[in-house]
Amino acid sequence: MCGIVGYLGNKNALGPVVDGLKALEYRGYDSAGVAYINSDSCTVIKRVGRVETIEKLVDKEKATPHLAMGHTRWATHGAPTTVNAHPHFNHDKTIMVVHNGIIENFQVIKNRLIELGYQFATETDTEVVPHLIEYHFKQSGSFEDAFEKAVSELEGAFSIVAISSLALGQLFAARLSSPLVLGVGEDEFILASDPSAIMEHTKKVIYLEDYELAIISKKGYKIRNFKRAAVVEKTAEELDFDLEHAALDDFPNFMLKEIFEAPQTIKLATLGRIRPKSGTVKLGGLVDVKDKLKEVQRLIIVACGTSYYAGLVGEYLIEELAHIPVEVQLASEFKYRFEPFSPSTAVLAISQSGETADTIAALKKVEGRNMLRLGIVNAVGSTVARMTDAGVYCHAGPERAVASTKAFIAQVCVLAEIGLHFGNGKIRDRKRFLQELDSLPKKAEQLLTQVDKIRQIAEKYTRFSNFLYIGRRYGYPCALEGALKLKEITYIHAEGYAAGEMKHGPLAMIDKNFATFAIAPDCQVLEKVYSNISEIKARGGPIVAVATEDNRQIKKLVDDVIYIPKTIEQLNPVLVAIVIQLFAYYAAIKLGKNVDRPRNLAKSVTVE
Ligand code: M6R
Repeated sequence: MCGIVGYLGNKNALGPVVDGLKALEYRGYDSAGVAYINSDSCTVIKRVGRVETIEKLVDKEKATPHLAMGHTRWATHGAPTTVNAHPHFNHDKTIMVVHNGIIENFQVIKNRLIELGYQFATETDTEVVPHLIEYHFKQSGSFEDAFEKAVSELEGAFSIVAISSLALGQLFAARLSSPLVLGVGEDEFILASDPSAIMEHTKKVIYLEDYELAIISKKGYKIRNFKRAAVVEKTAEELDFDLEHAALDDFPNFMLKEIFEAPQTIKLATLGRIRPKSGTVKLGGLVDVKDKLKEVQRLIIVACGTSYYAGLVGEYLIEELAHIPVEVQLASEFKYRFEPFSPSTAVLAISQSGETADTIAALKKVEGRNMLRLGIVNAVGSTVARMTDAGVYCHAGPERAVASTKAFIAQVCVLAEIGLHFGNGKIRDRKRFLQELDSLPKKAEQLLTQVDKIRQIAEKYTRFSNFLYIGRRYGYPCALEGALKLKEITYIHAEGYAAGEMKHGPLAMIDKNFATFAIAPDCQVLEKVYSNISEIKARGGPIVAVATEDNRQIKKLVDDVIYIPKTIEQLNPVLVAIVIQLFAYYAAIKLGKNVDRPRNLAKSVTVE
């Protein structure tokens, strides 16, 4: 969950490295650091805090190195302190290493090195790497060899970049279960955790695969598989990534910008895929597995966080539209279950980043079992996208704020499309469904004009320290997602609950100090939701609800109502999502929180 960058080229390497770290800061931001080689010695600068602190320190340096690397950290092993910040180095500071991931056998290696007289200064797992490289270098005298031997010994998940005054003019990198991309520019190379740190320099990239290492010099790059100790031939591919999408425009932060991108997100997720007039759906990403799809009798969706909640909406959608049994499993749990699969079971991974370690592990679990592996991914070319047999991209553009917003909306749209695609001909009102999907961008635009009202209501509710989000059917995953959004960016305690379950326990918590957010748009079970709301009201609980326009009855039942445009029940989650996102957003702003970078979190969770 950290971001790493390395640069070798004609420019002052500190520029691309610091800029790259800024682009990757969403991956972790509790401390940052850079290391560079000028003439023949290594220099390290690292501090607790954001990349901007490092940038100021770097600006004061007069150095103009051509080889440098940097790191922005999300702490796993060791508190977020300057000493635990990366880069890490050996005793005489000749070998510098940055790392993303977790080295699971670090303690064993550390104990061995301590016995050999090596001293450790940090609490991190990473620090074993520079010492281990030094150990092997002392044996062989070759840095390339030492690097390969060292990374071959590591277990767990890692992407590592190293520079050394013992190997001047060379940049070293290795990957196992943690993303690393090499940008190949004109007379320059840039390594990074994801292409957003590279695209400003070049669009030619090589994705390192598991067990691959790269040795880069001005003359070019060599790639080897360190498990097989063999050379790997790889050529650069063209990156399909739009830089413009990443700019803030006039928005105060990325979260608000991304919520306001909802109409465009729906358009991009449906563009060219749905044909309302003919009632057809065309998903190019699934064409190659057309025949295999016909054999699917059970679908397991695996995902984490917001993507998991989108998956729960998908469960309702696909079962209803395609009549296929669907189960949604948390990727982190799926990996450790022992359950029977048949080849007619397909696994569908949902991930915005495509780099979530738990989701990747879930896909790995079913590798080699002759099961179809599908993906719904936003980040083009990401690990999940490359691991699956087929899939559908969200096309939501880069999502920078830690809280996932537009990705959820795109995922729900794609799940609806997949439901229709699977269920070809199984529902009668297919055309109506597609017309509704087609009209959603306009409805989302209309909803966004109510932003001031949502802000006022959200601000009013910031006085509560406890929230329950309740809903039924399609409203239930929305309740879970609403609670996640609120706790994630406001740090207010919130739980999502199936409204019908309130009477089985949670109702005991309700009093005038415990607020409820009711998801109550028009649906099959609206009367039942009213009953659940009334039970809360009868116990003095304050309630805000999201309901469908023209619903006057609900006004009598709750304290505040936010209205959404009318659509079919199955597509309510898309509009409800905008409301719960804005509600959490304005509550967080009122409470003075950093909405783009909430504490303790990172955008891309690349550790298990
Ligand atoms: O990139 P992914 O969709 O795989 O990420 C999954 C979760 O880590 C992510 O949705 C997380 O829960 C968000 N911060 C929620 O807003």
